[in-house]
Amino acid sequence: MDHFAYRGGRLFAEDVDLKSLADAVGTPFYCYATATIERHFEVFRSALAASDPLIAYAVKANPNLSVVATLARLGAGADVVSEGEMRRALAAGVPPSRIVFAGVGKTRAEIAAALAADIHQINVESESELHVVSEVATTLGMTAAVVLRVNPGVDAKTHAKISTGLAENKFGIAIDRIPAAYALAASLPGLRPVGVGAHIGSQLTDLAPLEATFATLGDLVGMLRAAGLPVSRVDLGGGLGIPYRAGDPAPPTPADYGALVARATAGWNVQLQCEPGRLIVGNAGVLVSRVVTVKTGGARTFVVVDAAMNDLLRPSLYGAWHDIRAVAPPGETMTATIVGPVCETGDTFAEDRLLDAVGPGDLVAFMTAGAYGATMASTYNSRPLVPEVLVRGSDYSVVRPRESIAAQLARERIAPWLVAPVAPPI
Ligand code: LLP
Repeated sequence: MDHFAYRGGRLFAEDVDLKSLADAVGTPFYCYATATIERHFEVFRSALAASDPLIAYAVKANPNLSVVATLARLGAGADVVSEGEMRRALAAGVPPSRIVFAGVGKTRAEIAAALAADIHQINVESESELHVVSEVATTLGMTAAVVLRVNPGVDAKTHAKISTGLAENKFGIAIDRIPAAYALAASLPGLRPVGVGAHIGSQLTDLAPLEATFATLGDLVGMLRAAGLPVSRVDLGGGLGIPYRAGDPAPPTPADYGALVARATAGWNVQLQCEPGRLIVGNAGVLVSRVVTVKTGGARTFVVVDAAMNDLLRPSLYGAWHDIRAVAPPGETMTATIVGPVCETGDTFAEDRLLDAVGPGDLVAFMTAGAYGATMASTYNSRPLVPEVLVRGSDYSVVRPRESIAAQLARERIAPWLVAPVAPPI
């Protein structure tokens, strides 16, 4: 479900015509629909109403301040994995009491910043990190509420690069070590272990691995309590998949997920937490790009657009599929390979794809680009970061302006020994 639809032969974001928007802000640009962000958050919240979790939006999916602020106003918390994300969440109006700090390699400085900001909890990923958090908290004269991230050894059946719950993955503490690690946390100064959590991967299209993970977490809660250790929170992670390709089997719905959560956690008597990212913002964004040229006559027809792998990395990095639609479809189709201008063959969005017939100057929209789109962009090939535009009804706001080339150059320095004029060759 999203709010990108054709009206009079043109693709709109809510009530904003993407062609007019492209004329106003230039291409490429990301465009987000407030209505979709809000709807997805509300659908998720109501699907889980019976369990009443803290919904900590995974900021990494789309950290734009206005996106996070949209969610903060609805009562969302934030799952953050760096000091930068934490500062963003705070700046966007997420109360510290709803911020969860996760991540496998938090630095001492980040841990200190999290404690100073008085956030809700720190998710700890190793025994060694328990010692570090304890030391930092003790130095600051504070007590850190910590949740131990469990590596449940579960195959999430998703792309290998975004699977996190296998024993060989870097994340979490092996399940058989949790009781000792929890007892260690309870014994260390400056730490207050409050619960356990797990996140097994992203773009999950099957609930079975989640069900197995939740069962494991439930067993742990019982085991820890039996050992006299208090458990008051369980973090169920994020990961619910979304539809990317028209015609693909539908992923589990938030209602299916909500029912599973209610069933699996019945009787746990804890404060539940969830960390959805993609589900909230994925379908709420598109990347709009203009066709630069169409190359014909060779082995393939190439549509070269002005967006590239540095703007939307997912197809290049994961072989991910994004539907590609003409902003003003002519009614005819073509088969083409859609590529960007970057000097790599991997700069390919789609191979031999059947799509609306387009020619130079036409606009295309890469759908479902609201999650892990703009945030994974780089300036490779010295391409400036593209703007992000947030639409609300018939209104829009450029919530991140296009980076100028001058600003890009201004971030760098010429080393002093290079400033002097080059000596002429002898
Ligand atoms: N919690 C933790 C601890 C995570 O590591 C993640 C995502 C989430 C929550 C949110 O997961 P979601 O609900 O969005 O699936 N760049 C990849 C996705 C990487 C996901 C990383 N962790 C992509 O473009 O598909």
